[in-house]
Amino acid sequence: VPYLRCLADRKGLLIGTAVNDWALRSGDAPYQQILQKQFNVVVAENACKWGSLRPSRSVFDFTDADRIQQLAEDNKQKFRGHCLVWHNWNGNPEWLNRFHGSAQEKQALLEEHIGTVVRHFGGKIFAWDVVNEALEDQQPAPSCPALRKSIWSDIPDFIDLAFRRAHEAAPPSTQLFYNDYNVASCRGWSKPKADAMLHLVRGMLERGVPIHGVGFQLHTNTHANTSMLMDGIRENVRRYADLGIVVHMTEVDVPGGQWDHGKFHPLPADKWTDADRATQADIYGELLKICVEEPNVKAFLSWGFTDKYTWLPEDCPLPWDRQYGEKPAVKAMRRALEA
Ligand code: G3I
Repeated sequence: VPYLRCLADRKGLLIGTAVNDWALRSGDAPYQQILQKQFNVVVAENACKWGSLRPSRSVFDFTDADRIQQLAEDNKQKFRGHCLVWHNWNGNPEWLNRFHGSAQEKQALLEEHIGTVVRHFGGKIFAWDVVNEALEDQQPAPSCPALRKSIWSDIPDFIDLAFRRAHEAAPPSTQLFYNDYNVASCRGWSKPKADAMLHLVRGMLERGVPIHGVGFQLHTNTHANTSMLMDGIRENVRRYADLGIVVHMTEVDVPGGQWDHGKFHPLPADKWTDADRATQADIYGELLKICVEEPNVKAFLSWGFTDKYTWLPEDCPLPWDRQYGEKPAVKAMRRALEA
């Protein structure tokens, strides 16, 4: 049975996963084998975030990030950078969450971070998520994209600034991405945020900001309306093609649970039916099919690959189960790449 990466290589496509630092450090042999054999691109799930790189304001610690980067190099895998600018309290270190400096001080801190981190990796990172999740969830007027209030939002034009600084610090071939969730499909409930992101990117291009790609995270679930989702993604991907912008599917996972009135109800392993597994497989396969067929979609990464290591531990969102058995999703991915 061919490995996913061999099939993807033939299509000129990147197929990959987020790498969990804890799994690596625990010396889990099957984890490392699947990681090496199946994928041609990886991203660190947490190791390149502020929370990992900056234990204190004056100290940069690249130990974990470098370990993952080196492993990727040994495995002949490309390495994606995630992420330089994020508001999230769990991704940022305590000292930053407590930082109450002026906008000017924050700008200096952000510029220092981007310059240092981007230069540290240089050509070892081929694509960076420069800014992650800056858009508000609700977008009442998508043609004027609303940005969320955050530690960074009082810096004037912080998104443009971040991309310009990253571009200055990186080798010219480094691709710079804006990455977000609920933005992949421009049909149905996600349309306003998807439209807002398109306007954001178009505005950046008009201002001459160096942006090359967008990341569709694609944390979805088995209750998604699959055909509407896929049609909406395809349509959206083509809008980016018209702008000359590349798309990566960056954080795909397909849990069985669903949201109901603002609360997430997981579907634990013993409750999954064959029909649930088939739906999950179908979504993985259909997403990958879009990557194969649409010329400006260049990469597909799931947010982990085994249910043993996932941010949704109750929910079985990934193609391999906790014992490293292949679920139907793996076969569906192979089929999409073989077509
Ligand atoms: O840093 C401490 C570590 O010192 C300690 O040993 C460990 C024990 O639990 O906790 C560590 O921090 C955790 C960190 O992951 C590293 O494991 C945080 O509590 C935890 O909140 C953090 O969660 C990550 C989250 O981003 C926040 O950074 C998830 O693993 C990661 O999957 C998730 O990934 C995000 C993407 O970056 C952006 N898009 C959404 C996606 C899912 O939320």
